[in-house]
Amino acid sequence: MYLPLIFLYAICANGYAAKLPLVISTWAHSTFPNATQKAWEYLKSNGDQRLGALVEGLSTCEALQCDHTVGYGGSPDETGETTLDALVMDGSTHQIGAVGDLRQIKDVARVAWAVMNFTEHSLLVGDQAMKFALEMGFTKSNLTTNVSIEMHQNWIRNNCQPNFWKVRNFL
Ligand SMILES: *[C@@H]1O[C@H](CO)[C@@H](O)[C@H](O)[C@H]1NC(C)=O
Ligand SMILES: *[C@@H]1O[C@H](CO)[C@@H](O)[C@H](O)[C@H]1NC(C)=O
Ligand SMILES: *[C@@H]1O[C@H](CO)[C@@H](O)[C@H](O)[C@H]1NC(C)=O
Ligand SMILES: *[C@@H]1O[C@H](CO)[C@@H](O)[C@H](O)[C@H]1NC(C)=O
Repeated sequence: MYLPLIFLYAICANGYAAKLPLVISTWAHSTFPNATQKAWEYLKSNGDQRLGALVEGLSTCEALQCDHTVGYGGSPDETGETTLDALVMDGSTHQIGAVGDLRQIKDVARVAWAVMNFTEHSLLVGDQAMKFALEMGFTKSNLTTNVSIEMHQNWIRNNCQPNFWKVRNFL
């Protein structure tokens, strides 16, 4: 299974230091800069809303399917299904919310934020993460696209390489 990751930070220096709003994204290719830009615009028009800006950036990447390693329609697992992971953390308060292996929900960064907002959990995964997301009003959709189908078919044609098995002699 591939684990798509995106790191995007919205940083606002507070307190006595000079205020230095800053958005940093790990990648500069594909549509990652578009997501960084969105986070920046959010930060500029909403003041010190770090998490709002962060999630705006992450959600933009999910919607634009940055690099096909973020969002629906990318990084299929070995069954061909795209499942999504997301984590948000507030550096100032150390609050955290995350979801893993979430199926059929596109808005995973917002689900991670909801985990932070509404639960004492840090991480929800799999079916329980989906149950939570549905309870929070997120909707199910199909995360498979022609692109992810083709990625999966190419992977099979390439003898399932690369993959995440270290040892697999039990079949
Ligand atoms: C991403 O940003 C570039 C540069 O501003 C722009 O040309 C392009 O249309 C944007 N792409 C999307 C999908 O928004
Ligand atoms: C989390 O809480 C903030 C207010 O603190 C709110 O603006 C935001 O919409 C909430 N996000 C989710 C996904 O519930
Ligand atoms: C999801 O979308 C893909 C690509 O369009 C399609 O092949 C597949 O049948 C759809 N799955 C479901 C359950 O609708
Ligand atoms: C996906 O592929 C199917 C079968 O090749 C095709 O009929 C369909 O139009 C494609 N969908 C998109 C959105 O390109």
